[in-house]
Amino acid sequence: MGVDAVIAQGSEGGGHTGTIPTSLLVPGVLEATRGSGLVVLAAGGMHDGASLAGALTWGAHGVAMGTRFLLTAESHVPDHVKQVYLDSGLNATVVTSAIDGAPQRVIRTEFVDGLESSRGPMRFVRAARNAIGFARHAGTSPLDLLRTARSMHASGDLTWAQVALAANAPMMTRASIVEGDLEVGILPTGQVVGTIGDLPSVAELISGIVGDASDALERVCGGADPRSDS
Ligand SMILES: Cc1cc2nc3c(=O)[nH]c(=O)nc-3n(C[C@H](O)[C@H](O)[C@H](O)COP(=O)(O)O)c2cc1C
Repeated sequence: MGVDAVIAQGSEGGGHTGTIPTSLLVPGVLEATRGSGLVVLAAGGMHDGASLAGALTWGAHGVAMGTRFLLTAESHVPDHVKQVYLDSGLNATVVTSAIDGAPQRVIRTEFVDGLESSRGPMRFVRAARNAIGFARHAGTSPLDLLRTARSMHASGDLTWAQVALAANAPMMTRASIVEGDLEVGILPTGQVVGTIGDLPSVAELISGIVGDASDALERVCGGADPRSDS
């Protein structure tokens, strides 16, 4: 398909995610793509020099980070939302399919707990109420919402409750982390959020990660340099 690079995101990663941890997924993807010339980036839990050094020793070409970049000085996420992330521990996340039918790692908020615990008709009522509310917010007409919902339901195995939410999930995520409406409560995050307690600039972050990875590789194997092109 003309793809140049693959990001292999393990289960600890933020947002939509699978069940295989990064430490097992990345070596598997490297094995599967050996000889193809594809660049493979490791993702899910990457945040510091040690994780970059680890990924390079598996044979990955580099790392991709989501949660770590969300928690930087330049990130546009409002400060009070960043604070919720900073206050979240390693056990503060949950993988739920209740939002749009696909497993997604988010901070366990009241809204997510409510979705997880409501079943059958109640889940549909809750989902539909949110769908209608957010369609109004986004300026989507009820007819367009219905059309989207019908085609999503027809093309997959989503329940009507999941369809109602899935049609609005991107809007709800945007309302939560861009507009800062915490009542909406969809805050995608990696488990690594539990280890992050600062908001560095991106320049500080990158130079710290590269320097620490370089030191770690020097210590362990006497000199492989993550700054080199090889
Ligand atoms: C707030 C947030 C939103 C995300 N949205 C998307 C998305 O829309 N599409 C996508 O492919 N991945 C999305 N991701 C996943 C990231 O691109 C990345 O693969 C993931 O965050 C890596 O795991 P980490 O958070 O442990 O670094 C999102 C991650 C976060 C934290």
